[in-house]
Amino acid sequence: MKDFFFQIIRSDEGCRSYVLADSGTKRGLVWDPSLAGLESTLEVVAEQGLTHLILADSHTHADHFSATAELAKRLRDVAKVEIVMGEKTESERPGRRLRDGDRLDMGPKMQAVVLATPGHTEDSICLYIEVGGEKLVLTGDSLLIGSSGRTDFPGASAEALYHSLHEKIMKLPGTTWLFPGHDYSGYLFSRLEVEAKQNSQLAMDKSEFLLFKQNEVLDCTPVVPKIVDFNRASSPSAPMHIPAAAICARSEPVPGVRSIGTDELRSLIGEHSKKSLFIDVREPDEVNKARIPGLQNIPLSLVWTKLPEIAASESAYFSCQSGRRSGMVTATLARLGFSNAINVAGGIQGWMARGYHVEAS
Ligand SMILES: [Fe+2]
Repeated sequence: MKDFFFQIIRSDEGCRSYVLADSGTKRGLVWDPSLAGLESTLEVVAEQGLTHLILADSHTHADHFSATAELAKRLRDVAKVEIVMGEKTESERPGRRLRDGDRLDMGPKMQAVVLATPGHTEDSICLYIEVGGEKLVLTGDSLLIGSSGRTDFPGASAEALYHSLHEKIMKLPGTTWLFPGHDYSGYLFSRLEVEAKQNSQLAMDKSEFLLFKQNEVLDCTPVVPKIVDFNRASSPSAPMHIPAAAICARSEPVPGVRSIGTDELRSLIGEHSKKSLFIDVREPDEVNKARIPGLQNIPLSLVWTKLPEIAASESAYFSCQSGRRSGMVTATLARLGFSNAINVAGGIQGWMARGYHVEAS
């Protein structure tokens, strides 16, 4: 990943935010930041020393509090910041409103093009990015893994979403990596060619899709209008507690993943199998504090960049702190067709509970 920096920021609400930067510049993008992930986002921006930041909301969120206004306030002394949103937005926050086909300048190596994708909301946009030989699309709540955004909130249109999905997003190259604004099943990423085969909502013709969306019953919370008001305000007041979660889409049931325990991991590492990969998906600072000897570190956000090596291995064992994050990686890879991805249940916590040796830097 020498050409660019990429970090997924997850929150317990199932929201996904992303920080991207061209490695040759100090310019970055924060996509769909949430207040729940505010401190993590600030840490990442500081670690990367980003001095120019585009803060983007894919749409006016109705389920969580956007952190664009707070980030702009907290970062304005250390970086040049600009809030952007789609041209149809009613939010007061953006300094620039993006049209279909607009480009975001993050440096010579990172080409980012805006797609206007109304449907989930009228102001929804996606961002298609080419960098380092890879193509990725940040889809907000338009296309999700195995699903698509709900269309029952005010301003939504199932017909517009159908058009956005088929005439905009799915027209991108099939090899494009998909990073959604939410995933309630725990999947991390997908690929458009995989969604074309596995996403049942993409398989529907227009009339089936419209009927499906008309009958889609999803959780809601009575405070949605207050969340929308907060997310539209340029200087919002302190957010209220959300008593019940609203969600932006239906989730797909997650199939069982292959897993082993820490005892089995220990014997497998002991065999020094050259055909297998042993991967710790925690962040480098966690790995420096304590790590299982013999595991290489590929942080969760970057697993997608290592898929050729993973595909070539006989087995790829994934470990983390407790088995939760590595379970997400394993489920994501299983959905993409990797039959060799195996989760280490219990992670380093389970390893240490057995009294096994750990290393530290
Ligand atoms: Fe949404």
